[in-house]
Amino acid sequence: MKNQEDLKKASAKAALDYIKMGQVIGLGSGSTVNHFITALASIKSKIEGVVAASVNTEKYLKQHGIPILNLNTAGELALYIDGADEVNPQLQLIKGGGGALTREKIIAAASKHFICIADESKYVGLLGQGALPIEVIPMGRSYVAREIVKLGGFPAYRDNFLTDNGNIILDTQNWDFTDPIRLERLLNNIPGVVCNGLFAQRPADTLLLATDSGVKTTER
Ligand code: A5P
Repeated sequence: MKNQEDLKKASAKAALDYIKMGQVIGLGSGSTVNHFITALASIKSKIEGVVAASVNTEKYLKQHGIPILNLNTAGELALYIDGADEVNPQLQLIKGGGGALTREKIIAAASKHFICIADESKYVGLLGQGALPIEVIPMGRSYVAREIVKLGGFPAYRDNFLTDNGNIILDTQNWDFTDPIRLERLLNNIPGVVCNGLFAQRPADTLLLATDSGVKTTER
């Protein structure tokens, strides 16, 4: 049995095959993405640069001498690569365990091809096995939490945590995930919600799922 870090490394390495000469790529956040950055460093001259979804990802890219670009000047990106907290057979995701969900969702939306890199523990039949993170404007925290309760959700304030955008996170549970696109839209409609961690309207296009018997590729 391979350990989880080895599996994360294997899925990250498999994503290198998708990179073409001169591309600008988008990168999410988290430990699987960090493994990807380590692997990317060996072919960094091949790409123009990276648009990063978090301050942590930017720091790691800098340490590896990989150029960081701004999404506002980069235009549409050819490729977005990111991990996930959960992925279902439709390649819809739950993200935001690291709190970088809003920038991740923006870059995913601005990219032609979204590759999700994950170890097999992230693969679920039905989303919602863990919490669904929601980024909220700080002054709206109590109001948004009450609205979530009215909709049947259980919100928990993420202690001592602010996102890179200066907002708070409510980790929520008890949702009906049978129609993830509907739930994603419903939560986006609460005033004060910046973004929720459901990536259903813009799912991944390719999943590179590392298992003990190798990396399995699924296309949507
Ligand atoms: C960051 O906000 C998240 O969306 C990450 O992509 C997710 O938590 C996966 O992280 P790991 O790669 O560390 O498991």
